[in-house]
Amino acid sequence: MDFKKIEFGSSDFFHECELRHEVLRVPLGLRLHDEDLSQEAEQLHFGLFDGSVLLASVIAVPLSSSEVKVRQMAVRSLHQRQGLGRKIMHCLEEHLSGRGFRRFSMHARVSAVGFYEKLGYETVSGEFSEVGIPHVKMEKIRIGGGE
Ligand SMILES: CC(C)(COP(=O)(O)OP(=O)(O)OC[C@H]1O[C@@H](n2cnc3c(N)ncnc32)[C@H](O)[C@@H]1OP(=O)(O)O)[C@@H](O)C(=O)NCCC(=O)NCCS
Repeated sequence: MDFKKIEFGSSDFFHECELRHEVLRVPLGLRLHDEDLSQEAEQLHFGLFDGSVLLASVIAVPLSSSEVKVRQMAVRSLHQRQGLGRKIMHCLEEHLSGRGFRRFSMHARVSAVGFYEKLGYETVSGEFSEVGIPHVKMEKIRIGGGE
């Protein structure tokens, strides 16, 4: 399994969008294709690949030199609950902490809070709605470059 950066607009980015559409939008009756993704050119896209097949993806948005917001975390449906979400988040944190990022945050779906808690994230807000479902802000501060 390889953790790799995905270039905006590449064929892997096309696969990332397909995965996000299927995992994060279809279950809500929404279409990723209806969204303006142009601002994502400035964001950092990563994937977990089995050969050339994308199994999980995630986006990181630098908010400052030390803080990054994680968004659009998705694991292919047939491969969920097999440790891939944990693996891609671990690789992402290692990659970004090596570049000076210390504070990791996200707007987590309430249905996924238990997953992020297992990775050491804490809820730091009350509930709010995004894409029509309840979310909370979660964050984690990593001290030091490695583990
Ligand atoms: C949520 C998601 C990213 C988790 O990835 P995953 O590969 O299925 O999770 P993992 O197998 O790595 O699980 C790691 C741990 O979290 C737990 N876990 C996974 N999903 C969970 C959930 N939704 N609620 C509570 N615990 C969860 C697992 O049981 C496992 O616990 P363990 O270490 O005690 O065995 C993935 O299931 C997914 O894409 N879901 C649909 C989209 C989504 O909700 N994305 C997050 C948006 S904020």
